Amino acid sequence: MSRCLKKGRRHYKNTDQLENTVYRLGYHFMAPSGWLNDPNGLIQHKGIYHLFYQHHPYSADWGPMHWGHATSKDLITWQHESIALAPSETYEYEAGKTEIGCFSGSAVINGEELVLIYTGHVEGREPKEVQAAATSSDGIHFTKNKNNPIIAGPSSELSDDFRDPKVWKYENTWYMVVGTSKGENGAAALYSSKNLEDWNYTGTVLEGDGTQGDMWECPDLFPIGEKHALIVSPMNMENGKNIIIVGEMDYASGTFIPETSKEIDEGIDFYAAQTFADEKGRRILIAWMDTWDTDFPTKKEGWAGAMTIPREITLDSGNHPVFLPVPEMKELRIEHERYQIEMLKADSVRNINSNKNLTNSFEIQTEIKWKKEEGKGRVGFILRASNDRKEQTLVYYDIEKQKLVVDTTNSGESSPALPCEVSLKREDSLALQIFIDTSSIEVFTEKGDAVITNRIYPNPSHIEAALFTTKTDIISTTVDTWNLKKVIK
Ligand code: FRU
Repeated sequence: MSRCLKKGRRHYKNTDQLENTVYRLGYHFMAPSGWLNDPNGLIQHKGIYHLFYQHHPYSADWGPMHWGHATSKDLITWQHESIALAPSETYEYEAGKTEIGCFSGSAVINGEELVLIYTGHVEGREPKEVQAAATSSDGIHFTKNKNNPIIAGPSSELSDDFRDPKVWKYENTWYMVVGTSKGENGAAALYSSKNLEDWNYTGTVLEGDGTQGDMWECPDLFPIGEKHALIVSPMNMENGKNIIIVGEMDYASGTFIPETSKEIDEGIDFYAAQTFADEKGRRILIAWMDTWDTDFPTKKEGWAGAMTIPREITLDSGNHPVFLPVPEMKELRIEHERYQIEMLKADSVRNINSNKNLTNSFEIQTEIKWKKEEGKGRVGFILRASNDRKEQTLVYYDIEKQKLVVDTTNSGESSPALPCEVSLKREDSLALQIFIDTSSIEVFTEKGDAVITNRIYPNPSHIEAALFTTKTDIISTTVDTWNLKKVIK
């Protein structure tokens, strides 16, 4: 049995530490305490949304992996449930080892049962990674299958990195993609099954093209519009870390024919995205709103890791993926203010917190218009700023370079060295939706063609906010602000 957290028990060692925290988020999902990474097993079952996640409940550091669990009726408020999976069996546990556990995976509904499919990991074993399953009839308590592992190791042409199964059903057959590598490139292995227990390897569904990293974590393959999409989190990719490849899926040959590829989010803190189709038929994506190899200033508060807000993915008329916040986010809005600005002269600033009503969890919706003739300068926002602006987060459009920029280099603790930027063509106006939380910022264009997500760690009292422009006049611009309800515990 488990030497870690007993299934079904609520026991979080360092909850006391969480009483005086400054960075806990208001409306982004976090574990009650301890460490969190990838979203796992996203699914809606009998109306209830389930969010499982990679979790180390005993400390704020990554450790033996458990599956934390939360449920929601509305995608924005979440109830913590008992731990769904704890490392206990030989394929996921070995006494004295810390690099072990129930690694990432997915959930499907099979008849009345909710089934979790995940990777059992024991570092130093051969094979170190196998695929396993656990089932539940109440959606809360899970029993590991007696015949685990359901896939006992990778085929010999693949590397021993072999994890993060994502399962879906297509025309009466179950399919599973597993992240791996082949030769120098990341790859997704494809399996099929008629009963969710006996799986046949059909080869790699897609291998990297040489520029897409040397191992693909967290693959996710799904139908979208008239196409299919494959999402992967490549390791050691030069210019990216979470890509979506849109193309055609040939189920007969088990191959994916890629057409376009795009970074899902241009921010630093976005990784291991997973999607699911909800009962309304929407394709919803949630990602870990952090990434490996960054500082986690919250560790001193006894916790680390959070999820992005849920985003809906659709394809635009050219079959390019677009990402927008789910409309449910509007339910969080309170205390609305509107700023109608007819003219803001070049090189000036207009306060958008003039009533001092903003908290450190708020949303901005805006359409900024500028005089096209100038063709230069920057238009955008100064956010989470101290009065002297030594601490500030900038979101702006660089008119000359045609780039949307989120500059968090002076945002506070653990600021990165460089701003995040994405090429974006806009002639004379740009509409944005910006979500600020205690320690995060997510910026969406109105079309969803660019998203930038970062963790920021400003002083909690730094909430000054302003519209600014350099070298060009801003004309007829509307800025709506709302505080957002703090609903996450
Ligand atoms: C991605 C990842 C997965 C793995 C999990 C372990 O962030 O490395 O590949 O299953 O985290 O926690």
